This record gives sequence, C-alpha cells and structure tokens, in this order.
Amino acid sequence: MPVHIQEHITAAVQGAKHADCDQNIKIFVLIDSKVAELWKPALPYPTMTVEANEANKNIATVMQVWQWLTEQSATRDAILVNIGGGVVCDLGGFAAATYLRGIDYINIPTTLLAMVDAATGGKTGVNLKMLKNRVGAFRMPKAVIIEPAFLETLPQEELLSGYGEVLKTALLTGEKAYAEAIAILESAVCDRNVKIGERNAGGTKRALLRKTPRRKDCARC
Ligand SMILES: NC(=O)c1ccc[n+]([C@@H]2O[C@H](COP(=O)([O-])OP(=O)(O)OC[C@H]3O[C@@H](n4cnc5c(N)ncnc54)[C@H](O)[C@@H]3O)[C@@H](O)[C@H]2O)c1
Repeated sequence: MPVHIQEHITAAVQGAKHADCDQNIKIFVLIDSKVAELWKPALPYPTMTVEANEANKNIATVMQVWQWLTEQSATRDAILVNIGGGVVCDLGGFAAATYLRGIDYINIPTTLLAMVDAATGGKTGVNLKMLKNRVGAFRMPKAVIIEPAFLETLPQEELLSGYGEVLKTALLTGEKAYAEAIAILESAVCDRNVKIGERNAGGTKRALLRKTPRRKDCARC
C-alpha cells in the first residue's frame, strides 16, 4: 500500500469531524478487489472488497454494502472510505449517502479518471439494468485523497480513458489550457514508461528502457 495512505485517512477523518467526536468515529473501507490484490493494503479497518465493473454497479451491490455496514454495527458516526476507480467511488458514495439516511465518506481514487472526475464532484449512484447512473444522490465526500502511486498499476487503456477526460476539460477551458495539458500528458507518459521499465527485472527491463527515452531526451513518446 502506498506508504502514507493510513496517515492520510486519519488526517482526513480528523478534518472531517470535530476533534471531540473522534472517539465515536469508526472507519470502514470499501475497496476494488483488483486494487486490493495488487496493492495488498494492511489497513486496520473493517474492509469489504467489490469487483469493480459496470455489471456490479447496481443496487444489489449497494444492498450488500448496507448489509455489511449493519453487521459491523456501523452507526451515523461511521465514515466509509472508498478505494477504487469511478465504479467503487460511485457505488460506495451512494451506499454512504443512503445508509442511515447518510453517513460521511472519503474517496481514494485509484484510476486517473476517478482522480480527475468521478471521485470529486459529489455525484454518487448506480446503474439500473442497462440504464447508466439511473439511481443516485448528490453527496459530497468529506475528503478526496489522491495517491498518484496507484497509477503505476493502472492498465494502459484505463490511463488513456483518464487522459481523455483531462483533455476534454482542458479543451473546454481554452487553447492555453489545452496546450499545457498536452505538454503535461506527454511528460507523464514518459515518466510512467520509465517507471514501468524500472520495475521489471533483467532483459524485460532493458528492452523497455531501450524503447523508452528518458524524459530529458523525450520530445514526444
Ligand atoms: N460520479 C461522477 O461524477 C463520475 C464521473 C465520471 C465517471 N463516473 C463513473 O466512473 C465509472 C468509470 O470509472 P473508472 O474509469 O475509474 O473505471 P473502473 O472503476 O471501472 O476501473 C476500471 C478498471 O481498472 C481497475 N483498476 C482500478 N484502479 C486500478 C489500479 N490502480 N491498478 C490496476 N487496476 C485498477 C478496476 O478494477 C477496473 O477493472 C463509470 O461507472 C462512470 O459512470 C462517475
């Protein structure tokens, strides 16, 4: 798990509640099963994993979360920490918005799309069969914790989906913002490729690094 996640959660929870309420706060974690497997978190809180996909982003999964919170005796002072992409943030946020008529929640997005969009705006919800985001509620997260290390394991197509959102926002902002976004994304792609190369041993590493110019040599890659 990224080193400071637990400290960030503690700080965010303290910021979210008055200090004199601290003793009553119980933290619960809802985490994407893939993220849990890849990052092996050792957080000292009751934790429920969920397989993050559109088919699971429905009221049946939300009911499982409600049921689990009930079994864990979660009260109104509980805080739900959602760790995952947009699917987990959306459905965890909705579960929090509706459990006991609303408890606090914190999002820790693990995809770029969720970092720049889904985790931040307070739009929560689930699909109704084929109808996307048909049922939901507006409820702002008490905090959003961005840990860029999560992006190291994100599949390329998911990263591209996030880049798309960044570029869309920049386009809507204006020409200068778009040019800046392009420059930042180019640099980010180079950095990521180098990091992935460094994580691989021996020949794979050398092969990747041969293909991947270092940032200083990297006008476009
Ligand atoms: N609430 C909003 O404002 C808002 C805005 C945009 C999108 N959304 C919603 O977000 C959802 C899409 O979110 P998404 O693009 O983040 O996809 P996602 O949550 O479905 O995640 C995509 C895939 O990446 C995996 N994954 C997540 N983090 C990972 C990591 N660090 N390393 C490796 N794999 C990882 C997941 O397990 C999943 O397989 C949609 O349901 C959409 O409706 C909501």
